[in-house]
Amino acid sequence: MDALKGKYLEGIAGAADEAALEDLRLAALGKKGEISLKMRELGGMDPVLRQSTGAALNVLKDEIDAALRAKKAALGDAALDERLRSEWLDVTLPGRPRRQGTIHPVSQVMAELTAIFADMGFAVAEGPQVESDWYNFDALNIPPEHPARQEHDTFFMNRAEGDSRPPHVLRTHTSPVQIRAMTEQGAPIRVIAPGRVYRMDMDQTHTPMFHQVEGLAIDRDISMANLKWVLEEFCRAFFEVPSVELRFRASHFPFTEPSAEVDIRCSWEGGQLKIGEGDGWLEILGSGMVHPKVLAAAGVDPTEWQGFAFGMGIDRIAMLKYGIPDLRAFFESDLRWLRHYGFAALDMPDLAGGLSR
Ligand code: PHE
Repeated sequence: MDALKGKYLEGIAGAADEAALEDLRLAALGKKGEISLKMRELGGMDPVLRQSTGAALNVLKDEIDAALRAKKAALGDAALDERLRSEWLDVTLPGRPRRQGTIHPVSQVMAELTAIFADMGFAVAEGPQVESDWYNFDALNIPPEHPARQEHDTFFMNRAEGDSRPPHVLRTHTSPVQIRAMTEQGAPIRVIAPGRVYRMDMDQTHTPMFHQVEGLAIDRDISMANLKWVLEEFCRAFFEVPSVELRFRASHFPFTEPSAEVDIRCSWEGGQLKIGEGDGWLEILGSGMVHPKVLAAAGVDPTEWQGFAFGMGIDRIAMLKYGIPDLRAFFESDLRWLRHYGFAALDMPDLAGGLSR
């Protein structure tokens, strides 16, 4: 009896897993197990021996049973410990951040062009988007009866009932910032003014809100030649090409004389736009020598100072640089769409001295 007990309790203590335990249980307590067989032998024993052997067998059976249960529980705990050790997860680890959104292509282009003009000595000037009639038109030599007023498709703000002054407007161009900058700083002056402008216009290539950058350089002997150099330098830097060809077409603006519209040479091949090559021309800006009346309206003496101004479409040049054929894509915030058109540079621009800092 003691030998049996020793054999099974040792076996149970040394069992490596639940399968080994089950084998031991069957060997001892199963139908044909050693203990069960011994129980069956009790019937043939004399009553006195049967009683003592039976009691001892029952005790042994209970002991083995208890040992089996305890070992099973211990094996379960060990398995759980092992899983906890191998599958541990540090829930205190900080998460990996996912970037949410990126800089808007137009903002990126504004940062780029600001950096390029800064290298040529242009500071940034600003003005309000709700502008007075005088800054947007009169001071720029566009009097009330001037036909250019109709061409501008202007959004007018409401005046209070009974107020007969001309209504404010959503500025139709960045040119009013010329007046504000010269009035504040006088001459000589070299500024650009990037910002939003508004016209009642909506089709494949026009949106009611778009972006321009105004350029203004006034000094004693600034000429159209300086304008040409500045624009060529800008285009080479902006489009990242060794050379560009610009075409100056005689034009008319009330606030410049002479005036020129400027086109850039480009090609459309298989839907791909390339700058600086091909037979195509794309208009990118209006420009000219600032009209003496405009200088005078801003308090700058036209007998002493002269210079050039230009107004360039920012959405236009962004589209040219990154090959986006439909301006409205900018306003539908469809990133997939932008990526499809190769707007790889959806990251923050890294421009020394640029707006990104
Ligand atoms: N303000 C003009 C426009 O919006 C562009 C321009 C600016 C032309 C400066 C000449 C000089 O069309």
